[in-house]
Amino acid sequence: MFQSKISGLGYYVPNNIVTNDDLSKVMDTNDEWIKERTGIEQRRHVEAHDTTTSMGVEAAKVAIERAGIQKEDIDFVIFATLSPDLYFPGPGVMVQKELGLRTVGALDVRNQCSGFLYALSVGDQFIKTGMYKNILIIGSETHSRGLDMSTRGRGVSVIFGDGAGAAILSRSEEEGTGLLSTHLHAQGEHAEELALMAPGMGNRWVSDIVRENDPNDVSYYPHMNGQFVFKNAVVRFSEVINEGLKANNLTVEDIDLLVPHQANLRISQYIQHKFNLTDDQVFNNIQRYGNTTAASIPIALTEAWEQGKIKKGDTIVLAAFGSGFTWASAIIKW
Ligand code: COA
Repeated sequence: MFQSKISGLGYYVPNNIVTNDDLSKVMDTNDEWIKERTGIEQRRHVEAHDTTTSMGVEAAKVAIERAGIQKEDIDFVIFATLSPDLYFPGPGVMVQKELGLRTVGALDVRNQCSGFLYALSVGDQFIKTGMYKNILIIGSETHSRGLDMSTRGRGVSVIFGDGAGAAILSRSEEEGTGLLSTHLHAQGEHAEELALMAPGMGNRWVSDIVRENDPNDVSYYPHMNGQFVFKNAVVRFSEVINEGLKANNLTVEDIDLLVPHQANLRISQYIQHKFNLTDDQVFNNIQRYGNTTAASIPIALTEAWEQGKIKKGDTIVLAAFGSGFTWASAIIKW
């Protein structure tokens, strides 16, 4: 069995900064409400030239360079997103084309906020078995083009932002370091508590017809039962972090840095408090980017690394929860 490690990280966010005050000009909301409930101060929205694929490509270029590899060295692409440019094919193949990669495989992962960790776990299995040496993993989202930016959609649209993060997962020769384990869960029973109902082959045609005659049809906008999501998130985050620690005979005292999916600052703070972690042990950047779903962990991990918060030998815990419901964790010895 081989080991895998993250050998390069990168991110890209659009230049367009949208503050809470900017949102209050188009919907009935305000800076105080958004900051108090979510911690978010601003987020990025795509400009005309940005797409989920193009942002993923920019993040990938940085990660490839930092990994010290050439694009020819990439053996496989995994792309996690809930907001692909096209309904099909997914953005994995587009990245393969845009970067001019060999005709390597390209896989799309659809696990929303847990997407990056699901992708990391899939990549880890390919490295462990010896099948691949370098895998490009991307999480990228364009939320802003699909949100209801009227007062009707304010419970959802203030939370989400656009951006992309990327990691190169490489074969490592160092025993006991790198990606120690990943832990994946799902509970489809709650699928519709945080979902986009259309387009989808289930009701796309019906919605098209309804929408023509009914401006109140909201099936094309994401639906979120915010309080239900919040209550489940705090429980599942805790469970899956504990599961990861236990699997590696680690305790909370061993955590050098927790990088949680940036769902809501209140969720991160709840977890920090529950695990008795200091501010330095939990990395948050939701204040500046909002919730970027599959992109949030790789963006946060990259920023933490760039800021020198991750050092060789550190134990890093990644954890996510979101639509599906799906939740996951990864334990890394850097
Ligand atoms: N600005 C101002 N008021 C808003 C608002 C906004 N952006 N969004 C909702 N409100 C209003 C509601 O209409 C409601 O008004 P009412 O009491 O007159 O009916 C009031 O604020 C409370 O709404 P509620 O939905 O109960 O708020 P909340 O305290 O649950 O906070 C969330 C809403 C979405 C911030 C919160 O539930 C949450 O963060 N949930 C988790 C979401 C999450 O993490 N999602 C991603 C998972 S990956």
